[in-house]
Amino acid sequence: MVQEDYPRRFMIKNICCIGAGYVGGPTMSVIADRCPHLNINVVDLNKKRIEAWNSKDLTKLPIFEPGLDEVVGNTRGKNLFFSTNVGESIKKADMVFISVNTPTKSRGIGSGEASDLRWVESCARDVAKYAEGHTIVIEKSTLPVKTAATIKSILNSVKNSFKDTEKSFAVLSNPEFLAEGTAISDLENPDRVLIGGEDQDAIEALANIYKSWIVDEKIIRTNLWSSELSKLAANAFLAQRVSSINSLSAFCEETGANIDEVSKAIGLDKRIGDKFLKAGPGFGGSCFKKDILNLVYLSRSLGLDEVADYWESVLQINNWQQKRIYKKIVSTLFGNISNKQIGILGFAFKSNTNDFRESPAISICRDLLEEGAILKIHDPKVEAKDIEKALENEFSDIDNCNNKKGRDQCGYFVVEKEIEKTFYDSHAVVILTEWEEYKIIDWENFTKNMIAPSWIFDTRNVIDQSDFKSNNCNIWKIGNGIKN
Ligand code: NAD
Ligand code: UGA
Repeated sequence: MVQEDYPRRFMIKNICCIGAGYVGGPTMSVIADRCPHLNINVVDLNKKRIEAWNSKDLTKLPIFEPGLDEVVGNTRGKNLFFSTNVGESIKKADMVFISVNTPTKSRGIGSGEASDLRWVESCARDVAKYAEGHTIVIEKSTLPVKTAATIKSILNSVKNSFKDTEKSFAVLSNPEFLAEGTAISDLENPDRVLIGGEDQDAIEALANIYKSWIVDEKIIRTNLWSSELSKLAANAFLAQRVSSINSLSAFCEETGANIDEVSKAIGLDKRIGDKFLKAGPGFGGSCFKKDILNLVYLSRSLGLDEVADYWESVLQINNWQQKRIYKKIVSTLFGNISNKQIGILGFAFKSNTNDFRESPAISICRDLLEEGAILKIHDPKVEAKDIEKALENEFSDIDNCNNKKGRDQCGYFVVEKEIEKTFYDSHAVVILTEWEEYKIIDWENFTKNMIAPSWIFDTRNVIDQSDFKSNNCNIWKIGNGIKN
């Protein structure tokens, strides 16, 4: 169906996206690229982030995603604009995407589990205040089931209190399924697009935008609550697979089985499928943990304790996997890592992103530092200041750490720009992210400068054992039961 087939109030020309983060920025860039007839304003309260989105040098965009620079380069200043002018942009918009952060609540009712909806609520209030005429409001953020009812209620009550009879709203749920590191290709060629709602005209107005590059068969229409729940369910299922394979990685280590062989054997069964069967140090990223916590919280609120317990166990295995790896490193190094130098390769929660939110590297590094280790940390994309922030500056310099919390010893870390330097004088090197550069290391040369008996801990199974030539270094690979 073409744009002209719609009643005038559903002809979309101006779009506002509130939130210029990992979702808002890439999603709107791809829509702008595929729909040159639309004008898209991405707005954010964070001035620095907006400045970075507007930086002339496309390598300075606030987010690293393969292909993002090209899409932004094609569209920015033509039909894609980044600004802090939230009110003005809402005013002009026919359609507003809410794409703001929805972290876990850190205090009050539901603390540690429920989603903190303060940013979503503030967006709804801004839309109610500034919108003119008919506006389609779209939940792009991942939200608890039934949030659309809250948004509708805010839109309508604020509208009524302004006695503005000219305003009207339709609310849709359109969750985003992109994964970081592959965001642009996921957006350009998604497995599906999900639109939940009641207002058929609004649903078709949004579907019509996606139809500019996605076939209609891939655009699923559901009711609002199915759409909100499907997003939480998709993340929970993906995380569950990672916890399942990680649980079996420990089993392999005890029995002589090999986790990559097991993954291949089960993944070839079409009913199981081969994706998300890679063992590792545990899943990270900003969403799996918070979305499962949210599902657990909602289940308990509905009196479904068994359902809550079931999904909570996915998180328990994930925490256990991270602790298990740290304990393995300590026990292998004779139960003592105090003042021992350990190289860390990778801080991002996965490769091809500069995002380190909930990265397993954070908890593993903290535990090693608590034991007194000296860490040399390398990551190709995560900046030194971010690594310092993640480790809370607590361990970042030696003078600062003495006598802290009454400890007589504690570790510290430095950030290394060169991979090779993480090996010099180290007792062990731990691979925590599967970056390509770690797959082609000259092991024979680099391990020469380590302190014997030295160890490489490959928590991502990136090293091909047949390439690993080293005279004086041992290797431990996750889920590899073959004893060295
Ligand atoms: P983010 O933290 O990177 O970006 C959110 C942005 O919203 C921030 O820049 C913040 O300043 C801005 N913001 C908050 N309140 C605002 C307001 N009232 N007005 C203007 N700007 C405001 O978050 P993200 O990673 O892009 O995630 C956004 C949502 O999308 C979350 O609900 C998340 O669960 C979901 N999601 C994320 C991913 C992902 O890969 N990161 C994938 C799918 C879905
Ligand atoms: C995930 C989902 O894949 C997206 O569909 C979803 O939109 C997004 O969350 C979200 O809602 O935020 P993302 O977290 O970016 O995307 O990355 P994933 O590729 O899913 O990886 C998550 C974590 O699981 C990473 O730490 C990764 O290393 C780990 N993982 C993944 C494994 O350990 N093994 C695997 O086989 C796959």
